[in-house]
Amino acid sequence: MSCPDPLALHLPDARATEALARRLAPRLAPGFVLYLSGDLGAGKTTFVRALLRALGFGGRVKSPSFSLLESYDLSKFRLYHFDFYRFDSGQDWLDAGFEEFIGAPNVAIVEWPERAAGTLPAPDLHLFLRFAGDTAGEERIVEAVAGTERGRACLKALAPTDERC
Ligand SMILES: Nc1ncnc2c1ncn2[C@@H]1O[C@H](COP(=O)(O)OP(=O)(O)OP(=O)(O)O)[C@@H](O)[C@H]1O
Ligand SMILES: [Mg+2]
Repeated sequence: MSCPDPLALHLPDARATEALARRLAPRLAPGFVLYLSGDLGAGKTTFVRALLRALGFGGRVKSPSFSLLESYDLSKFRLYHFDFYRFDSGQDWLDAGFEEFIGAPNVAIVEWPERAAGTLPAPDLHLFLRFAGDTAGEERIVEAVAGTERGRACLKALAPTDERC
């Protein structure tokens, strides 16, 4: 049985978002590209922080909203975490010269990919996080859209154990 694509999941609190990241972590491999979309405060960096913890990184995980890029040397690959909120266009992405960091042997995770639309390499998996209720509350909905076979395999890992597909 194949997973629905997009796969939509309810995340009642931040712990659920972190648990989702832990399910994705073992699926990441060199060359993987993950996009994270969602409004300010939707939980994109929270997701990445939990992912890095699950991959064995014990240090501080800062949001790249000002630096544009943070990188992590992990046992299996180097992970680049981007945030393009401050980009105005795809030209900014080209000017930044980050292309070389995306693709094997690295893993790339991009917050605000739409700010570099048209020039950024396509993702294996794209997660869309949104507030499910009050923006002061913890409820979120995440939609996962696969862009490649590798991304489709991730949907199986992301589906909760009672909804295996
Ligand atoms: N279900 C949830 N999932 C993720 N974070 C949540 C959830 N509920 C509450 N939070 C809280 O919301 C905040 C999300 O902040 P975070 O920096 O992860 O957002 P972001 O999407 O990366 O925003 P930005 O676009 O500004 O980078 C954190 O303080 C987190 O604890
Ligand atoms: Mg963020």
